Amino acid sequence: MAATGLSAGSFLVFNNVNSVEASDGTAIPPAQPWPHKELAGSFDAASIRRGYKVYREICSACHGMNEIAFRNLNVAFTDAEIKVLAAAVDVEGEPDSQGEPTTRKAKAFDYMQSPYKNEQAARSMNGGALPPDLSVIVKGRPHNEDYIFSLLTGYEDAPAGVSLREGLYWNAYFPGGAIGMAPPLSDGAIEFDDGTPASVSQMAKDVSTYLTYCAAPDTEPRKKMGLKVLASLSLVIALSWVHKRFKWSTIKNRTVIFRE
Ligand code: HEC
Repeated sequence: MAATGLSAGSFLVFNNVNSVEASDGTAIPPAQPWPHKELAGSFDAASIRRGYKVYREICSACHGMNEIAFRNLNVAFTDAEIKVLAAAVDVEGEPDSQGEPTTRKAKAFDYMQSPYKNEQAARSMNGGALPPDLSVIVKGRPHNEDYIFSLLTGYEDAPAGVSLREGLYWNAYFPGGAIGMAPPLSDGAIEFDDGTPASVSQMAKDVSTYLTYCAAPDTEPRKKMGLKVLASLSLVIALSWVHKRFKWSTIKNRTVIFRE
């Protein structure tokens, strides 16, 4: 099995060949060439924009992102765009004068709530499984964004001899293999505004980039600070080397003559 997908706008090839397995049989997600993982690389803003769309139109039907406010997406969207995309989402408002719950359109400062009222409601809608909050899921799983990408593209028929109970699906990357989330992506499920074809691997890549940015929005400033520190340190080292050569030059060039 080998499905590959070309990411639009760059020539990085994302592949989901599951050839490696950990000792318990769970497949190990191959490392993908994420632009944000390169030394001086930064987040692909177009990918975050598409990834938000995947989250909003597909994943948010089951998963909240309680720690992420709409305005946190300002790395990829303008303030005006954020207002519009927040207003497209309903959130819980203040109770009305009779104490009844109300809903209102979200504002930029609102957080992305779970679609379920509570854990019991979430489980009963998902055959007992709980869709976790996705705010920091990328940090909370081994292999991080590589895992999310492989999980989303890694659904297969169950191996011979394995029978799954109703509501479970086979995914070699999920610990144990049987996952309570139906394959959420299918080719062409949504339409990207920038015309990128919405293949499963494209959507998986974009939503993984989006989730990675949400889980660690400060990666980029930290990386830039690190590079600055490295640059100034190398300058200091170079200068002290020149200084040392200068100071030692008289000593090293000295001829010592011993007379009797
Ligand atoms: C119809 C509901 C539904 C949709 C839509 C959905 N999920 Fe899930 N998801 C679940 C459930 C239920 C689980 C828990 C599965 C389990 O524990 O067996 C889950 C689990 C997960 C996990 C955690 C896996 C782990 O290691 O524990 C991730 C990551 C995830 N979903 C990402 C996504 C993304 C990204 C999307 C959108 C592309 C998405 N889901 C769409 C229901 C959904």
